[in-house]
Order: sequence, then structure tokens, then C-alpha cells
Amino acid sequence: MLHLKLRVVLFLPFRAVPQKLKPVCAFSSLSSASSSPLPSISINYTPWPGLKPWRQSPLNEDRLWGPNGPEPLQRSSSSAPTVQSAVGAASSLAEMGAHVLSTADPIAKAELSHLAFSRWRNEKLPVGAFRAPDRPARPPKPELVSPKEIPSPKDSSLPLNAYMLHNLAHVELNAVDLAWDTVVRFSPFAEILGDGFFADFAHVADDESRHFGWCSQRLSELGFRYGDMPAHNVLWRECEKSSDNVAARLAAIPLVQEARGLDAGPRLVQKLVGFGDLRTSKIVGRIADEEVAHVAVGVDRFISICQRTGRPPSSTFKDLLKEYTIELKGPFNYTSRDKAGIPREWYENSCTGKHEEEQQLSVVHDRLASIIAMESENSSLNGRC
Ligand SMILES: [Fe+2]
Ligand SMILES: [Fe+2]
Repeated sequence: MLHLKLRVVLFLPFRAVPQKLKPVCAFSSLSSASSSPLPSISINYTPWPGLKPWRQSPLNEDRLWGPNGPEPLQRSSSSAPTVQSAVGAASSLAEMGAHVLSTADPIAKAELSHLAFSRWRNEKLPVGAFRAPDRPARPPKPELVSPKEIPSPKDSSLPLNAYMLHNLAHVELNAVDLAWDTVVRFSPFAEILGDGFFADFAHVADDESRHFGWCSQRLSELGFRYGDMPAHNVLWRECEKSSDNVAARLAAIPLVQEARGLDAGPRLVQKLVGFGDLRTSKIVGRIADEEVAHVAVGVDRFISICQRTGRPPSSTFKDLLKEYTIELKGPFNYTSRDKAGIPREWYENSCTGKHEEEQQLSVVHDRLASIIAMESENSSLNGRC
């Protein structure tokens, strides 16, 4: 039944797809791929060399930040037995993801993420299809306010290192939910997207849950905890508005939000070093390094969708940013972005502009050169006459 519904919907033209069916609009031409060949497009893309090793890496159990860096966590789970058994009894990745999304306690959410990814890896469960909750469950604290209402570092009761760490913990907890939401929300389209798509985003969720764990642990070592200062809900809102289109989701989350993390990471590390908190700076540095994989996954999956639908990735990405009002902000960390494999022309307007300008100048130059050549040929002919 689901398959039949998909087949019908997939034949709708891109712009005619009703809003509520737009998750499949990125695939509107896929279903007819067998009967009519799609236009082939050449894509200049160098994938991050670490992508394959990341995909094949064993389960990462280093959920504690020890004296010398990450190490396995020895203590038993602290999450509520009922929630744990819900994930333990679930029969698909999507069902487990929905339970994680419905878990409000941040530590439990992080632990259940790891349990879910471990079960998916070890028990070879199917992706399944499950309805995503409208929004992820959140703890009563931190209070969610508009970005303008968040106190500045000097008005906050937290010292600068704890303030920055709290902000990062909030980003990481959101990232857990964003990755699971991508898994669950698009699970009805697993047949088209393929298991690898879901394996990638469940893996991202597992990484993010580990990152949240390190931030939470370090906050506690500094005498604070997640929830001690207000936070904003901007990250979830960006995710929510791309809920009807998988290509828009990839543009909004890994290619904009996660890439923004690559831009901010080194600055944060430097500030923490300047503050004198080397332990926190090492945690943040490690997290920033691991974020490259998440952006690289986004690039790879976005290009794959563009190839399968015969759309040029650069203009498709820019069109999606406009259509979904996704803001792209600099300054950009070109080194990390290049490493993750995001082509610069996707995000750097001046890059495309400069290239086009150079091409136009070159045409003008060629024309002028041929006019001058003709003029001088004429004058030499006239001279001979
Ligand atoms: Fe992260
Ligand atoms: Fe990430």
C-alpha cells in the first residue's frame, strides 16, 4: 500500500506536489528513471577521504572525557527503565528514533541514542517506518527564549568557559534531535533513500549524543549543569521548516547548521585557551574535528539526490535556501569546509560571481583582440595600397 502510494506521488511534477507531500519532491523524477533516462550532469566534487572510514568505523564507546581525552564509560545507564525498555523492545531504527525524540531528559536522550544506534548496528534491524513526533521532547530547563533574550557573557551568572560550554551543549543536544528527526521523518521513504541514508544519520545522532555527554560532564566538573542558563530554539525551527523536503533538510542541517559549527569551532577553541581552560578547549577541539564527518555526509547525500534527479547541486542548494528562507552566514572557515568537501561556489556568492566576471572579461578581451587584429590587418592592407 505504502509502495503504491509512493509510486503515485512520485510521478507528480516537482512544482505540482502538494505541500504536505513535498518530502518526495526531491525524487519526483526518480520513479521514471527506468523508463526515461535522466539528463546526466557533471559534478565537480571531491568527497572527504575520511567518509568511508567513518561509515565503517566500529561503535564508539568513548563516552567519557578522561584525564587524557575520550575513554569508555564504565558506569551503568542512568536513563529511566521504561524508556530504555521502549528502545530495547523496538523493532526498527525509526521506532527507536521516535522514542529518543520523545525522551525529555537530556542525559537519557543521549544514552538512548547510543543504545538505539548500537542495536541498529549489532542486530541489523530494518529502518522501518514510524511517525515522528511534531517536536522533540525537551526538559523544563533550559528555558527556551528568543536569541535576543539570552544574556550576554558579561550579564550571565556563568563564567565565560561555562557559558560557552553551555551554548555548545545546547547545540549538541539539538543536533541529536535533528539527526533522529531526519531518520524518523523520512523513514517512510526508506525504499527510495536506501538504508545507507538512515545509517549515516543514526551515526550522526550517536556522535552528537557523545558530544553532548562530554559537554555535560565538563559542565558538571566546572560546577554547573545543562539548564543553568536560557537557550534559544532557533536550531529546531530551521529543522522544522525543512520537514517536507529531504533535500531542503540536507541543505538546512548538515550543509548550513553543521557547516556553521565548522566555522565557529576554532574561534571557540581559541577563546577557551585565552580564558585558560585547556581541558574544555580540548573537548571543543575534538568535537569540531568530528563535525567534519557530519558535513561530509550532508554533501555526499545532497549530491547523490541531485545526481539521481538530474539537478545541478550548486543552483539547487541556492534555490532551496531561498525557498525555505535558510540564512547562510559567514565568516567561513574555508579550510574545514574544503576538507568536508563543500564546493565553495555553493556558499560563496563572490566565488561564482568572480568566475562569471572572469569569463565575461575573457570574452571581451578576445573580441577586442580580434578587432585590433582586424584593424591592424586593414591598415597594413591600406598602407600597401
Ligand atoms: Fe556535535
Ligand atoms: Fe554535528
